[in-house]
Amino acid sequence: MIARLIADMVELLAQLKLRQQLLRSGLWCWSMEIRNAVVDDHRRIVEVMVEWWGGRDLSASLLKIFFIHFQNTCFIAEQEHELAGFLVGFFSQCNQGEAYIQFAGVNPQYRREGVGKRLYNEFFAVCRSHSIVTVKSSTSPENTLSILFHQVLGFTILPGDGEINGIEVTNSYLTENDPKVLFERNL
Ligand SMILES: CC(C)(COP(=O)(O)OP(=O)(O)OC[C@H]1O[C@@H](n2cnc3c(N)ncnc32)[C@H](O)[C@@H]1OP(=O)(O)O)[C@@H](O)C(=O)NCCC(=O)NCCS
Repeated sequence: MIARLIADMVELLAQLKLRQQLLRSGLWCWSMEIRNAVVDDHRRIVEVMVEWWGGRDLSASLLKIFFIHFQNTCFIAEQEHELAGFLVGFFSQCNQGEAYIQFAGVNPQYRREGVGKRLYNEFFAVCRSHSIVTVKSSTSPENTLSILFHQVLGFTILPGDGEINGIEVTNSYLTENDPKVLFERNL
């Protein structure tokens, strides 16, 4: 009984050490599975969104319809069945050659390990294979991390009709008087 307990502990420590080594080598993120979303992922994401967005509840904007009709442009990152991240995007029906990323989030336990970048790269790849040449996205002006992340990934901020903290914003993009920073990236 005690021997078994010790063996389990040794195994656990070995796994932790392996994870640390993988993290340091940058390989950890590449061992993560990225797959297209399925309907049940909507429920799993809604359950964690408030925590992942630091207390903000944006779940009402994440419609289940995306997980029914846009599975080929929505991606899930998983580590041993644990939800590590997601991206919800679609191809524009009106503007040919254009796609839009509506939401992306990474489990706080897996941040800064390249998961967000991998999810965006998966989306860029499916876009390229469908002759999409421009990807757009938006975020709240207070979400400075998201602004930085998009800029690092090659997005530029589009001109708006206002400015908050020195950043161009569009005041009524999705909702009246709810400023958003708009991004664009050419593929
Ligand atoms: C924004 C978010 C998706 C980034 O995901 P992530 O997996 O942590 O990002 P990555 O590890 O792929 O980072 C890519 C690059 O972005 C920059 N970056 C990401 N997080 C950063 C941080 N906390 N501080 C500084 N730079 C950061 C870095 O340049 C990083 O590259 P590097 O680690 O090689 O220097 C994640 O922080 C998140 O889910 N935030 C809450 C939800 C949200 O705001 N979503 C975005 C808009 S819908």
